[in-house]
Amino acid sequence: MTSAFTAEIERETHDLYDRVRHVIPDVEWSVHAPLISAINQLKRERKALILVHNYMTPEIFHGVADYSGDSLGLAQFGARTEGDVIVMCGVHFMAETAKILSPEKTVLLPDLQAGCSLAASITGADVRALRARHPGLPVVTYVNTSAEVKAESDICCTSANAVQVVESLGVDKVIFIPDQFLGQYVASQTKVELVMWEGACEVHERFSGAELREFRSMHPGIHVMAHPECPDDVLQEADYVGSTSAMIDHVGKVHPKQVAMITECSMAGNVAVEFPDIEFIQPCNLCPHMKRITLPRILAALETLSPAIDVPADIAQRARLSLERMLAVGRSAARD
Ligand code: 13P
Ligand code: SF4
Repeated sequence: MTSAFTAEIERETHDLYDRVRHVIPDVEWSVHAPLISAINQLKRERKALILVHNYMTPEIFHGVADYSGDSLGLAQFGARTEGDVIVMCGVHFMAETAKILSPEKTVLLPDLQAGCSLAASITGADVRALRARHPGLPVVTYVNTSAEVKAESDICCTSANAVQVVESLGVDKVIFIPDQFLGQYVASQTKVELVMWEGACEVHERFSGAELREFRSMHPGIHVMAHPECPDDVLQEADYVGSTSAMIDHVGKVHPKQVAMITECSMAGNVAVEFPDIEFIQPCNLCPHMKRITLPRILAALETLSPAIDVPADIAQRARLSLERMLAVGRSAARD
């Protein structure tokens, strides 16, 4: 059971709260602080590392993370990390990726229902059918997919390195799955021809170019950044396109007065803690899958060492090859 917001916990979390107070109200902190304290204590006892995606809420992102980043950063960190247990604060495909890259570790996902509309859009059988329709073409697969789909692929990519991965193959044409919008973005940045799939992120597909134009007219001079899972008319309106971590780096470099991050809502709160002088303005959309991960569920996962991710050995072995080929390629720059 979690303790109450005692004077001792208030003292222990005082400096942390000082950093995050402008994105987390007082009344919420009294609920979060005892959970943060209990999680940080238990993770030391369990020799666990907490990996946190940029879309987690600020109390998770700033309160309990040992590492935070985008999908590529999480995969890279998961591949090289020490420790017995990884708690993935993200969605199912991220936990599966960590398990595939660190099979000897216990990988926990605090809510197994934290899925992804892209991962749900395609199966291993679909990939085999695509290969039969386009014989000889290599399959480049966005990491937002199941282990089974990765196992049927030649190489994975993330939003941070998709162009570089596609070009690394040295061919004129590839199968690119499953995000049609990331695919359209990659196609606009390379001469390689892409055969695409009709998957989409249920969060990013909801933005529109018209919405952004109207938004710009209300906030003249605002710096607009967008994730490449957004439709093309949104990306056309953006000043910068990049992965979640690329957007964070870009804010640090450009330091605009006002920023809109056209992506999941928690990003802006997490970044605002580092840049209190920058004004972060909506629009944003919530990812219902990411929001399944909460402090109480993280604590329960550490207490029970469950739910743990398991990937059948034959699938894991083939999926690992696709991931390792990607990790050998690395990270590319985003578009200004
Ligand atoms: P990033 O790899 O850019 O963090 O994106 C992951 C994701 O799920 C975006 O919706
Ligand atoms: Fe999947 Fe979109 Fe949620 Fe990312 S934001 S996990 S791509 S549904």
